[in-house]
Amino acid sequence: MKIFIDTANIEEIKKAGELGVLDGVTTNPTLISRENRGFTDILKDICRVVDGSISAEVISLDYEGMLREARSLSGIHKNIVIKIPLTKDGLRAVNTLAGEGVKSNVTLCFSPLQALLAAKAKAAYISPFIGRLDDIAHTGMDLVRRIRKIYDNYAFKTEIIVASIRHPVHVLEAAMAGADIATIPYKVIEQLIKHPLTDTGIKKFLEDWKKVPEPEIFKKAKTN
Ligand code: E4P
Repeated sequence: MKIFIDTANIEEIKKAGELGVLDGVTTNPTLISRENRGFTDILKDICRVVDGSISAEVISLDYEGMLREARSLSGIHKNIVIKIPLTKDGLRAVNTLAGEGVKSNVTLCFSPLQALLAAKAKAAYISPFIGRLDDIAHTGMDLVRRIRKIYDNYAFKTEIIVASIRHPVHVLEAAMAGADIATIPYKVIEQLIKHPLTDTGIKKFLEDWKKVPEPEIFKKAKTN
């Protein structure tokens, strides 16, 4: 499963990138609004830091407006993917852009039938928002499992990005469900790394190591 980071914050993106686990970035208007910087500058910075899929969202709701914004955004960098909401105009725009070789990430997906239509319209990615479904007492991950089944039934190439992730169990379940990608907030990426038994294990090893004379190779390594 590929790992994307769900943020527009360049420091978080750099820190996740340094871990060597990052395959891409997703942004949305809310995440952009938290940065107090221009949209284009943010996207250019992200493209400099990450060599992978970078989703940038249109804000027009009509077909022509979506296309205008999408064409401008895709001109910023070859890795920009256009995030488009799952509406009638959105599906039309996705299909037109696919014809021009521009990839779309269809966002705000809350049903398997919406996902079927996105794949038919030739979306490169579909983003089911699982946390927001959990918030209203649905099981968000059921949506991912249903989309996986439908896409496998018909060999659709559209990749499933599990979005609106709130905690590590969402990531685990996304991987178990066979999602192609999980887009994860930085805080949750950090939570994936941590385990109390790892911390106590390190502590014990280091205590025991005090009884071992310092090896020559480590002494040399310090001076190199
Ligand atoms: C994904 O592409 C979205 O930007 C994001 O996951 C939305 O998450 P939220 O429901 O926590 O706002």
